Amino acid sequence: MSNPIFVALDTTETGKAAALAARLGPLVGGIKLGLEFFVAQGPAGVAEVARAGSPLFLDLKLHDIPNTVAGAMRAVARLAPALTTIHASGGSDMMKAAVAAAREEADKRGVAPAKVLAVTILTSLDQAGMGAVGIPGTVLDQVRRLAELARRAGVDGLVCSPHEVAAVRNAVGTDMMLVVPGIRPAWSAVEDQKRIMTPREALRQGADVLVIGRPITAADAPEEAARRIAHELS
Ligand code: C5P
Repeated sequence: MSNPIFVALDTTETGKAAALAARLGPLVGGIKLGLEFFVAQGPAGVAEVARAGSPLFLDLKLHDIPNTVAGAMRAVARLAPALTTIHASGGSDMMKAAVAAAREEADKRGVAPAKVLAVTILTSLDQAGMGAVGIPGTVLDQVRRLAELARRAGVDGLVCSPHEVAAVRNAVGTDMMLVVPGIRPAWSAVEDQKRIMTPREALRQGADVLVIGRPITAADAPEEAARRIAHELS
């Protein structure tokens, strides 16, 4: 991907998201919309933001029985995102069903299928939190286990924290796309992100796509911030 930045538009307002997408789209690799926006504005809101023409990352983290996820993924595919997400902990059959549905629906519509990315362990869960839901061992072991399960299920890529990206790249090889949030240029505010990394370092450690929100969207001059990051990476 020539520009690896997907800018996260974390808002529930279509007007705000569409305006930012129009301003920033030409300066980044794509736009990310998440569950918050989707629940508030639905497919119509997503279509409105996508009208600016940038590749879309629709981050819904689907997790249900295979049949239901396949149905949801067909509906996602109608919005023609470039990237979308599921939870690896839904299991191998669920992941296979998601990938098959994304490809079938895209074929039917004559568009490129979305790359389906799996989320392994949410970064909001630490080892104690994982233990509390009955998963023993370290976070990194579980991330690696789910990454391998996703790879075998034919998933296109993984979402990983900056902290994990090198280990995950090592575990899955070069075939999978690694998408990394928690990115902060050295000159921007850290906000609530704890385990951060600069854009350049994340790419060096094996990331393919960088998800960056507030360092761009909350900057005094968002276009300038997007240009500055892209320039630092070139
Ligand atoms: O504003 P900021 O750059 O922190 O935004 C990061 C984006 O990546 C947000 O959309 C956030 O939900 C998402 N994300 C994250 N950390 C994760 C997974 C997703 O920050 N572990």
